[in-house]
Amino acid sequence: MLHHGHRQRIDLAVGRLPSGDPVLEIDAFCGLSTNVITDVLRRHGRPNRLVVSTDPWQFDRNVRFWSGDRLPNALELASNDFFAAWRLGGMRTDVFGREAELGGPLAFASIDGDHSNEQALFDFHNVDGLVAANPHHLVGKVPGRTATMSP
Ligand SMILES: C[S@@+](CC[C@H](N)C(=O)[O-])C[C@H]1O[C@@H](n2cnc3c(N)ncnc32)[C@H](O)[C@@H]1O
Repeated sequence: MLHHGHRQRIDLAVGRLPSGDPVLEIDAFCGLSTNVITDVLRRHGRPNRLVVSTDPWQFDRNVRFWSGDRLPNALELASNDFFAAWRLGGMRTDVFGREAELGGPLAFASIDGDHSNEQALFDFHNVDGLVAANPHHLVGKVPGRTATMSP
């Protein structure tokens, strides 16, 4: 879940996005961090598409309410399946029923899915191969210990 430092770190990374490539979020739960990332992108005037690897939960309703003008491409895929699909490329239907284009580099990634060391590291390495030049990856581990990691 989000804590105080998250928003500043997201703001820092989004303020320095190296490209207009998509931003990736793993995972979204009820949509709180999705709405925050969308809001920060909006405030910085960044048009980057937000792509989310999520279990749907109450995500749909909360994101439609707060970010209805800028819905992300949320895909009902756990992170390993998400990266396999992303590497394959092509089109896929998102949780809002829209066609989403998969594949290519990412501008920034927030990792907050499975918090086990093994999966968090796996997610980090998957992201690291796709994010070209942004020195900021946001990795949520435990409250108060979130790290912004540099490749
Ligand atoms: C801490 S919550 C995310 C909270 C969200 N970032 C926020 O602040 O609103 C972690 C979520 O990751 C999901 N999850 C667990 N393993 C995952 C995986 N391998 N890929 C994607 N999501 C995963 C869990 O079901 C849970 O909903």
